[in-house]
Amino acid sequence: MNFDLKSMDLARAAREKCDLLVVLLPEGFAPGEDALGSLAAQALRAKDVQTQPGKSLHLYQVPGVAARRVVLAGVGKADARAVRQALAALAPVLRQGAPRHAVVCFAGPAPGEAVEAAVRGMTHASYVYTATKSKPEARTLARVVLGVPDAPALAGAVERAAAVAQGVELAREWGNRPANHATPTLLAQAAKALAKHKGITCKALGPAEVERLGMHAFLAVAQGSAEPLRFIELRYNGAPRAQAPVVLVGKGITFDTGGISIKPAAEMDEMKFDMCGAASVLGVFRALAELQPPINVVGLIPACENMPDGRSVKPGDVVRSMSGQTIEILNTDAEGRLVLCDALSYAQRFKPAAIIDIATLTGACVIALGGVHSGLFASDDALAADLQAAGQASDDLCWRMPLDEDYAEGLKTNFADVANVAGRPAGAVTAAKFLQRFAGTQPWAHLDIAGTAWKGGAAKGATGRPVGLLVHYLLARSGAGAEAPAPAPARRARKAAAAAKP
Ligand code: BES
Ligand code: MN
Ligand code: ZN
Repeated sequence: MNFDLKSMDLARAAREKCDLLVVLLPEGFAPGEDALGSLAAQALRAKDVQTQPGKSLHLYQVPGVAARRVVLAGVGKADARAVRQALAALAPVLRQGAPRHAVVCFAGPAPGEAVEAAVRGMTHASYVYTATKSKPEARTLARVVLGVPDAPALAGAVERAAAVAQGVELAREWGNRPANHATPTLLAQAAKALAKHKGITCKALGPAEVERLGMHAFLAVAQGSAEPLRFIELRYNGAPRAQAPVVLVGKGITFDTGGISIKPAAEMDEMKFDMCGAASVLGVFRALAELQPPINVVGLIPACENMPDGRSVKPGDVVRSMSGQTIEILNTDAEGRLVLCDALSYAQRFKPAAIIDIATLTGACVIALGGVHSGLFASDDALAADLQAAGQASDDLCWRMPLDEDYAEGLKTNFADVANVAGRPAGAVTAAKFLQRFAGTQPWAHLDIAGTAWKGGAAKGATGRPVGLLVHYLLARSGAGAEAPAPAPARRARKAAAAAKP
């Protein structure tokens, strides 16, 4: 999807030829003299529309308005969250009548974060899953013009948001694909496809190489599956080689049956989403490819299935991890931490500035935080604060959880250095304590996205979180974030903004 940015007021918006004009009405909307403004003011007075996000009024062929359809939509305080809510509520409208060209006009102030949310919201609402449909419905929205009071000031924000939106969409797409269409081999192919972009390289290891590395915790999870595992290594080099990279590690369980500790049948299909951490790493690299920020990033994805089989690992089996620590696998359904621990050990070879792992790790995290905040665990206060701030700025929230040593008590066992599960209490924390043993001495953070990576029920589907959070974090770290002066990559959006001056 193509985004353009134009300076416009409602009088100008009324002259825009398009299939759909969305007018975002903030609290305290002050109409001008123009026809569209007074129409909105009248509708507000009559309470046919309200400024709360989610409320809207739909009109057709309005006299004096060039757009075929007009939607007046409330955006409350016009912050990122309100814009996201307003556009999410319009998702069905963005498909009706197959609009190809839409204009989204802020009828009031347009702060950078709200404009970014509009770009992400429009991409999100118009995404259609087609990979396994025999009669796929096509995405029709091809061009979106964002109308704001001051376009040139927002060019960088739009460029960034469009790149994040592409990354989010890639993460959603791979998250949504069923396990037989998103095997470890296919994930590795998707990663390799990213290496066609400037600055990105990729390699994928198979079982023999992983064995040679001594990743017996990872191998133990994969051994019950007929699908061969892959260990995927992506690199993005945007800074001098000497600069220590940030390493992202994404859990890539392409299907989690639980193994011998098998899960109940109800909703087990949702365990196709157990590779959403991996998908978020792919999504981040997609955004890096667009933005080319001056930073080095490594992406590691241990990818395999967790299946019950005659060859499966059994409860009580002890394996030796790449770190040398032995692990008693008391529950084969706690497999995420087993594939991640070896990836964390591997990460040490890059002498990283920081390691962040992203994983649909525990049902306990869903109970603790639901679908609003991802769980954030961090060994380092500065890293935790940066990730939390990035979550706020990108409307992709996370909430810090504790890592007190007392939580590690339950991982003690008589038969190995550590067990892979503790009791039921604080399950998200004990999982993080397990990972921490393998995370090294540099700053490390763990994002448990079990509650945020996908939605169940009628709206079942991957969300693409936390691509927004991670890209914001990396850009801020590289100095190319919203706070820093616009770097070279803002070229295209600047050009768009310049061309669009009224
Ligand atoms: N992939 C699951 C976590 C999960 C479960 C995410 C439900 C979202 C919804 C993970 O591999 C798992 O099975 N974790 C177990 C750990 C337990 C055995 C200690 C869990 O959460 O039940
Ligand atoms: Mn599991
Ligand atoms: Zn799992």
